[in-house]
Amino acid sequence: MPDMLVNLLQLPDENAELMAMRSGGVIIRRANTFEATAVRTFIESNFSTSWADEVVPCFSRQPVSIHIAILEGLIVGFAAAEATCRNFFGPTGVAPQQRGRGIGRALLIASLHGLRSSGYAYCIIGGVGPAEFYSKAVGASLIPDSTPGIYTDLLGKRS
Ligand SMILES: CC(C)(COP(=O)(O)OP(=O)(O)OC[C@H]1O[C@@H](n2cnc3c(N)ncnc32)[C@H](O)[C@@H]1OP(=O)(O)O)[C@@H](O)C(=O)NCCC(=O)NCCS
Repeated sequence: MPDMLVNLLQLPDENAELMAMRSGGVIIRRANTFEATAVRTFIESNFSTSWADEVVPCFSRQPVSIHIAILEGLIVGFAAAEATCRNFFGPTGVAPQQRGRGIGRALLIASLHGLRSSGYAYCIIGGVGPAEFYSKAVGASLIPDSTPGIYTDLLGKRS
C-alpha cells in the first residue's frame, strides 16, 4: 500500500465543507479527550482493534488530533492525524451505512486544515487504500517507491 502526498497550501475551503455537512445534520469537529473511549469503540466496532490502538496518541495532543463526524448524537466517522508518525494523515473511516454523502471528504479536509495550522505545508497519507478518494478530494498524488511504508516491521524487512 503506497503513501500519498498532499499540498496543504491548496486545500479546499474548510468552512464551506463544514457548513454543507451541518445543513445535512452532520457535525464535524475535533474529538474531546473525554470522548476517547466512545471514539475508540466506534473504530473497533466498524474497523479494527489496530486502528483503535493507533489513534491513542491523538488524544494526548492539545489540540486533540482526531476529528469525528456526529449524526443524531452518534459518531459516524473519524479522521486521525499524527497517529503513528508526525505529519501523517490516517487512519480514517466512515460507518458503512453513512458512506457516499461527503462525510469522509469533510473529515479529511478538516483534519488536513488542522495539520496546516500546525505549520506543515505538505502532508503524507500513510498506506492508502482508496487513492482515487484522496486524489479527488484534495489532489493527493502517489509517492513513488513508498511501499512498504510505516505499516510494516522495518527490522524484519532487513533480515
Ligand atoms: C474512504 C472513506 C473514508 C470515504 O468516505 P465517504 O464518506 O464514503 O466518502 P465521500 O462521500 O466523502 O466521497 C467523496 C468522493 O470520493 C469518492 N469516493 C469515496 N470512497 C471512494 C473509494 N473507496 N474509492 C474511490 N472513490 C471514492 C466518492 O464517490 C466521492 O466522489 P464525488 O465527490 O465525485 O461525489 C470510506 O469509504 C471508508 O470508511 N472506507 C473504509 C475505510 C478506509 O478505506 N479508509 C481509508 C484508509 S487509507
